[in-house]
Amino acid sequence: MKTEIAQNAYTNVSLDKSLKILQECSKKPFEKATPIPSVVNHSIEFYNHEQANIFNKEWICIGRCDEIQSTGDFLTHEIAGTPILAVRQKSGEIMGFVNACAHRFTCIVNKKSGNAFAFTCPNHAWTYGIDGKLNHAPFMDLKTDFNSKKNNLESLHTESWEGFLYITLSKNPSKKVSESLESFRNSIVGQYDMNNYQTVIRETMSWDTNWKNLIENFTESYHVPIAHPKTFAGHKKQIKDYECGEDSDHYCYHFAPQELENGPGAAHPKNTKLQGKWRRTMVDFCVFPSHLVTLMPDYLWWVSVMPQGVDEFKATWGVAVPPEILNDIAKEDYDEWLKKKIHYMNTANEEDKTLVEALYYGSQSRRLPQGTLHPIEKNLWQFTKYLSKITG
Ligand code: FES
Ligand SMILES: [Fe+2]
Repeated sequence: MKTEIAQNAYTNVSLDKSLKILQECSKKPFEKATPIPSVVNHSIEFYNHEQANIFNKEWICIGRCDEIQSTGDFLTHEIAGTPILAVRQKSGEIMGFVNACAHRFTCIVNKKSGNAFAFTCPNHAWTYGIDGKLNHAPFMDLKTDFNSKKNNLESLHTESWEGFLYITLSKNPSKKVSESLESFRNSIVGQYDMNNYQTVIRETMSWDTNWKNLIENFTESYHVPIAHPKTFAGHKKQIKDYECGEDSDHYCYHFAPQELENGPGAAHPKNTKLQGKWRRTMVDFCVFPSHLVTLMPDYLWWVSVMPQGVDEFKATWGVAVPPEILNDIAKEDYDEWLKKKIHYMNTANEEDKTLVEALYYGSQSRRLPQGTLHPIEKNLWQFTKYLSKITG
């Protein structure tokens, strides 16, 4: 994390003024929509407000459930500065905790993932079961009123949806992810059986830009033929064929079929669930606030964006592949196939990083024209409306 941020014309704009500008922008009908105002990507007060009102309250995706399949498998993550621990229980359920000891709050697990039958704090060796219950606290019997039952790890609400694992820091989450996404699942993504896709990659990356710039980049495909010559531009899709989904307080999406019926980007012959154009259709969606997915019949790519300051984010991303596609890869070819897949995704990320950081730099200009959105950039307008509502 950087210690200093470069100052620009928007850095010190107040929260009230930022909110007012955002609300004015989000009121415009899509036909008259303009890009997200620079101030919401550069103001420090607005950033702090987002941390409190978005990342400390909303459901955040931390990975795929199949990354922790066996009892005791765990993943660590971070949400708005809070270290998170997710652990598979004997019952099959996944429990989430704040990854901080109940004694004096030392972060307990430093590994990104692994398997454990207990978690021991490195500071004074308090030891917790995988269910977060304190099992052993050395010499605490010397404290007369110490109740070990009242010194468990802080547990968090968790939910799985279509194979993705979500956690929220909220004590009382207003709605379940599955409820918020029910109609989207029924009408569009349910037919892909994402639940069965198997994780093959989990990586992280850091970019020097505001987190929302990645949301915007991911939720418009207008840039793809231009910006991704080495990767996604190869999955030929006509700009005129893109459709943007309905307005929602919880998600946005767009989709388009690619030209080729077979080959990369198309469903495997053994996939009998996807029908017609859906056998070669890509769906790009965002589960608000920060979970992005490119869903294809032959793989999915997910990203979870974590702001690290107004001008920096860290993102965890992964790739999961349907079993029928994986089964076709010979065991001796798997390592090479995986290496190529990682290289492909890293190349695509690099293609985006350059232009998104350039967008961030350009958007700090004190004087700018009005700007506009292409019809297939409707998801950006929808995201702006979400942002305005959740921060207002
Ligand atoms: S802080 Fe964890 S045992 Fe003391
Ligand atoms: Fe891109």
